[in-house]
Amino acid sequence: MPDPNRRDFLKDTTLGLAGAAALSATATTARAAAASDRMVVGVIGPGGMGTAHLKQLVANPDVQVAYVCDPDAERLDKAAKLVESAAGTMPKAVKDLRHVLDDKSVDAVFVATPDHWHAPATILACDAGKHVYVEKPCSHNIREGRLMVEAARRNNRVVQVGTQSRSSEHVVRAMQLLRDGAIGDILAAKVWNSQRRRNIGHAAPSDPPATLDYDLWTGPAPMRPYQTNLLPGIWRWWFDFGCGDMGNDGVHNIDIAGWGLGLDTHPSSIAALGGKYFFDDDQQFPDTQYVVFEYPGNGQVGHKKQFVFEQRTWSPYTQEGYENGNAFYGTKGVLILGHTVGWKLFGERDKLVDSMTGKPDLPAHHQNFFDCIRSGARPAADVEVGHRAAALCHLGNIATRLGRVIHFDPVKEQIVDDPQAAPLAGRTYRDGHWAVPKGA
Ligand SMILES: NC(=O)c1ccc[n+]([C@@H]2O[C@H](COP(=O)([O-])OP(=O)(O)OC[C@H]3O[C@@H](n4cnc5c(N)ncnc54)[C@H](O)[C@@H]3O)[C@@H](O)[C@H]2O)c1
Repeated sequence: MPDPNRRDFLKDTTLGLAGAAALSATATTARAAAASDRMVVGVIGPGGMGTAHLKQLVANPDVQVAYVCDPDAERLDKAAKLVESAAGTMPKAVKDLRHVLDDKSVDAVFVATPDHWHAPATILACDAGKHVYVEKPCSHNIREGRLMVEAARRNNRVVQVGTQSRSSEHVVRAMQLLRDGAIGDILAAKVWNSQRRRNIGHAAPSDPPATLDYDLWTGPAPMRPYQTNLLPGIWRWWFDFGCGDMGNDGVHNIDIAGWGLGLDTHPSSIAALGGKYFFDDDQQFPDTQYVVFEYPGNGQVGHKKQFVFEQRTWSPYTQEGYENGNAFYGTKGVLILGHTVGWKLFGERDKLVDSMTGKPDLPAHHQNFFDCIRSGARPAADVEVGHRAAALCHLGNIATRLGRVIHFDPVKEQIVDDPQAAPLAGRTYRDGHWAVPKGA
């Protein structure tokens, strides 16, 4: 039988005063115990996705949102009001994330900034003793991803990456079927991203909005003049701040590809072609892109694996009915998955054998994060897993930018025999900025 709701219970006129007092004392003690057990969190970057996290967090009785943090005063104000109206208390609203990290009472931070801040914020947070939920792609470049893993491990912190499909029941089920051999040996896979994007135009440098601390927003990235087609959210399509649509929406399915293929390493060869075939605007990343990743395994037949990523951000065609999808090709069948929709499993002669529908489960991914903080277990999208998925996006973008095959040492995490490509595994930072990760 469910516990009686306390408020309804007190309304019961058959309950004597002594009984009510005793009940009230018990409830107070229980509330105090629950309050002390609540996770105290800060949300860093309550923009589009950060607000989605915030809405989820304020609805969670086991969480107290103590801070919101954003260099944009308008967004900061909106976020603080959202918390106040949902939770009844005003969080501290700060524009510099160091204030959140300095507060010892904060257990965990959610980092939903633009990509160029993900690794710097995560590393600083881990070193300040915080657990971190960081949005995907977890890094802006390959070197930063490795430094994030090291920061999580040296501080023994839980770092969950925002690829929420890792906690979504239908995707977990599909991956289990693949592991159980439902389509035989899987040697190849395909990932596609065909979300339609818009033209961001051409813009000239101008003053940033009065509400935005643009210097703080730029952070450790090189300072460049503000222009109107950097915001809102369009920073994604700029090399200094984002990772293109491969790192933006592609990364969800790229992560699933590695999971379904059972990969626990990086690829050794990456071949790519692509560029801007459609948009005549300031976007720097390709709108059309084909990348092949090859994993040699032990070199024997049956051990080599590959997957192909294809992207067209302008075409209305949704492949297999999914605008973002995965296909896993096995010796006995194929599994086609759209992580926001569901999946279908076909056996020999394309016979439909099984299917399931489902959506990305953000609450479950939050819950997994909090459970792991309490238990000390590795989360579903642990930072090492997130680093491997993000590295694929970075490698694919580098190979596309250079228009040739690049070779990668998966152990040293270095691009080999290519002096032009090798530095692109890292980035150039603003000289002397406080958030530049050590060792980058
Ligand atoms: N998991 C998902 O399904 C999903 C969906 C959408 C976006 N995302 C990810 O979320 C992140 C944010 O995307 P968005 O669309 O919400 O972008 P956005 O630009 O709307 O929001 C980013 C916010 O971060 C703030 N910010 C910038 N620098 C900051 C700093 N130093 N400290 C604190 N705040 C800072 C910005 O002012 C802005 O309010 C991206 O990495 C994106 O890939 C994930």
